[in-house]
Parts: sequence; structure tokens; C-alpha cells
Amino acid sequence: MTDDVLVVHGGSPLRGEIHVRGAKNLVPKAMVAALLGETPSTLRNIPGVRDVEVVTGLLEAHGVTVVRNGDELVMDPTRVELASVDEINVHAGASRIPILFCGPLLHRLGHAFIPDLGGCRIGDRPIDFHLEALRQFGATVDKTPDGLHLSAPQRLRGTKLELPYPSVGATEQVLLTAVRAEGVTELRNAAVEPEIIDLIAVLQKMGALITVQTDRVIRITGVDRLDGYVHTALPDRLEAASWACAALATRGDIYVHGASQVDMMTFLNVFRSLGGAFEVDDRGPGGLGGIRFWHPGGDLTAMAIETAVHPGFQTDWQQPLVVALTQASGLSIVHETVYENRLGFTDALVTMGAHIQLYRECLGGTPCRFGQRNFQHSAVISGPTKLHAAELVIPDLRGGFSYLIAALAAEGTSRVHGIELIQRGYGDFDGKLAALGARVERSAPESVPAQ
Ligand code: EPU
Repeated sequence: MTDDVLVVHGGSPLRGEIHVRGAKNLVPKAMVAALLGETPSTLRNIPGVRDVEVVTGLLEAHGVTVVRNGDELVMDPTRVELASVDEINVHAGASRIPILFCGPLLHRLGHAFIPDLGGCRIGDRPIDFHLEALRQFGATVDKTPDGLHLSAPQRLRGTKLELPYPSVGATEQVLLTAVRAEGVTELRNAAVEPEIIDLIAVLQKMGALITVQTDRVIRITGVDRLDGYVHTALPDRLEAASWACAALATRGDIYVHGASQVDMMTFLNVFRSLGGAFEVDDRGPGGLGGIRFWHPGGDLTAMAIETAVHPGFQTDWQQPLVVALTQASGLSIVHETVYENRLGFTDALVTMGAHIQLYRECLGGTPCRFGQRNFQHSAVISGPTKLHAAELVIPDLRGGFSYLIAALAAEGTSRVHGIELIQRGYGDFDGKLAALGARVERSAPESVPAQ
């Protein structure tokens, strides 16, 4: 096995300006929504991330014409057709998005095949909520060793559902299925992340009737026809926060064009409490604006955070933030309540000199689903510690970005293996590092060291 290695000469602050484009966790889903329309859709602000290629391949395999013009995609679903299992397998790759094709394909064709899912290994990541919801809509689901075969002998019917946990993917599954089902669907305990609200905006443009009520209740009235949409994807708040953490950990100064304050309020509070400085550049209607993040000098202050569903502190912000916490004075506590296994990446930070101890107990105000079980899902970080260079192997997307930040903050030259995993979620990653003056270079692919 070979991998891509980034050689990182650390110890210098990142300074400069970068742009974030459409959210990785919205764009592929809005592309899936295009399948529900009778006419073409146009999606703008497309990032250069792997899931866009995956969904493009899957849409094309199902007869959708996809044309890319710069950062805009035009998708024409007027001739949707069944794809072969082989074709679907070729395109699905290591992504979790294919599961969201279920509802749209069942409406269009009466059948769907979904291969085994990939995605970051940050927990078991089951799909039981998805399958239960699809069954309640009236779909037949057969699990086979190669994947899921689904059929809808009759039109799917609206239903009453309550998710055991406000899952982002399962909420999207319900939305993409309910909009064309017969009658009303009521979803309780829904996720309400900004990417979900943006997907609802897309569906509303297509002709859907969706009401977001208080207390995580979403009501959808099925319609007989949806048309295409024209939409500009909301900016990637997860990527913006990653660069903010890089600014703090390297004592730098980064202006993130496109970063949006409303979607990042919880993150901004944490960033400020930790001692980071930021300034929102609001250029008003039509202006892009952004947020400048910097280290104002002096000490950072240790703090306690708990990840949670929106509007809480997003789990995808946690890993990059932990690197900044290694530079804060005192004891910081992180309680990860969304994924049971999202702190394993800290082992490598410990080899770089960080003081991090993991615990099975819930070290936070809220007892979570993982508390009485065998998951190391809380961390105590004692800082500040000087980080030194290391040989690093990227475990997952956000963990990978946090290794990169650690390597950039550390004294000496690190080698970061498996960098292609980061490129999957951070568009134009090399260009951004260059724009921030990072001292990095690619090394020839080589064999992966044992972990
Ligand atoms: N869950 C179940 N059963 C299900 C579905 C989810 O038990 O059927 C559990 C999961 O195991 C997890 C929790 O519910 O413990 C939340 O999972 P969720 O379904 O919300 O996650 P997801 O839809 O698979 C998306 C993002 C993740 C992000 C989460 C939480 C995409 C492609 N992925 O995943 O993003 O962490 O929501 O906000 O949208 C990332 O960007 O690095 C990333 C992992």
C-alpha cells in the first residue's frame, strides 16, 4: 500500500487569506435532491471535495447529466434510469452519501441498490435509523452481503417518526423521502444543523412543503411533483473552524473569506473564551465577507467543552480544537457525546509531547449515551506543552487536519502520511497552505509505517 506524504516544517505562524466554498456536508446532499426534480437543477459554490465526485458518478450512473462550469454544477434528471450493481459499486467509493439515494430512487424508479457504506472510522456509524424510517414509509429493504436492495411496490406513504437520536443523515433521509411521499410526515427529534436547514431551502425551491417547528419537529406534506432548483450552497463552517484553530495553535492570523458568523456562533464563543481573537467582516447584502481569526498574544485559557448536536458545539470542530487546547494554560476537558470513538487521534498528539488522558466516564455536565459503556470518550488536556515533530499517520478527515495543525505548530520537521484523506474534505488544500505561508512539501509516495 502506498500513500501521499506531506513534509511539514513546523514552528511558524500561518498568516494570510483563504476562501471556503460550499459545505462538504450539504453539497453532495443537495446534488442527491436534484434527482427528485422533473427539470434541471443548478448548484453553486461547489467545493473541490471527493464526495462531489462520488455523487456525480452515482448520478451519471442513474442517467442524470451532470455538467460542471467552474464552481457551478448543472444536473439534468429528466432521463433517470436503473444503474447496474457493478456501476454503482465503481462510483460509491468510501463515502456515506449513497445511503441518501434511497428515497429519491424509490420515488423515481421503484427500486434502489445501495452498496456497503464507507466514511470516517470514528465509531460504528450504523444505519438502523435510516432503514427503520424507510420501512415506515412502506419500502421493502433486503440486506445482502453486497449491500441493500430496496423496493417500493407502491407509492411511499407519509408517516409519523421519532428518531432515537437527532441524526443528521437520518433526518436528511426522511426529508428526501417524505417530500414526494403521499400525505403528511411528522419527524420528531430531528437534527437541525445549518446544512439541514439549507437542504430544506433547496427542497422548498423545488416545490416541497416543509415546516420546521420548535422542539426538533419537522412536518413535511408530500407533493406530486418537484422541479429543479437554483441554489448557492452555504459556506463550510467546519472547514472555517479548522483554519481558525490552525491560526490559534500556530499563533497566526487567518482571514477566512466566506466564513459565516450565524452558522458558527457556538464555535466563536468557545474560540473567544479560549483566548482567540476574531473579527466578523460583514459586507452586507451581496458582499461575501468573512471572519478574521488570530492569536492576540499572551496565554490561552484552558476550558471545558462538550460536543453536541446543533446548536451545541459541533463534533467536527472538536479534533482541530484539541490541538489549540494543548497550548492553553491549565486543565481543559473535552466530552465527546456524538461519536463513541472520536478521541483516538489524541494518541499521536501525546507522542508529540501533548499531555492528554482519555477517560471512559462522562466528564461533562450531560451524561451521554456512551457513559456506562466501554468508550474512551472524554479527554483531559493539560497545557501548555511544546509540541515536537513526529511521523504521523492520518486516521480520519478531522483527526487528519488536527495532525496537520499539530505538525505546523511543532518544532522540527514532521512527515504526515495519508494526506489524501484530508483532501477529501478540504478543497484546494495545497493552495490554501501555500497562501498561508506554510512550509510544506510533498514527498514521493511510500509504504505506510506501522502505527
Ligand atoms: N446513528 C445511529 N444510527 C443511525 C444513524 C446515526 O446510531 O442510523 C448515530 C451515529 O452512530 C452517531 C450519531 O447517531 O453516533 C450521529 O450520527 P449522524 O447520523 O448525525 O452522522 P452522519 O449523518 O453520518 C454527518 C456528517 C458528519 C458529522 C455528523 C454529525 C456528513 C457526510 N457527515 O454524519 O461529518 O460529524 O453528521 O454532525 O454530513 C465530517 O465532516 O468529518 C463528518 C464526520
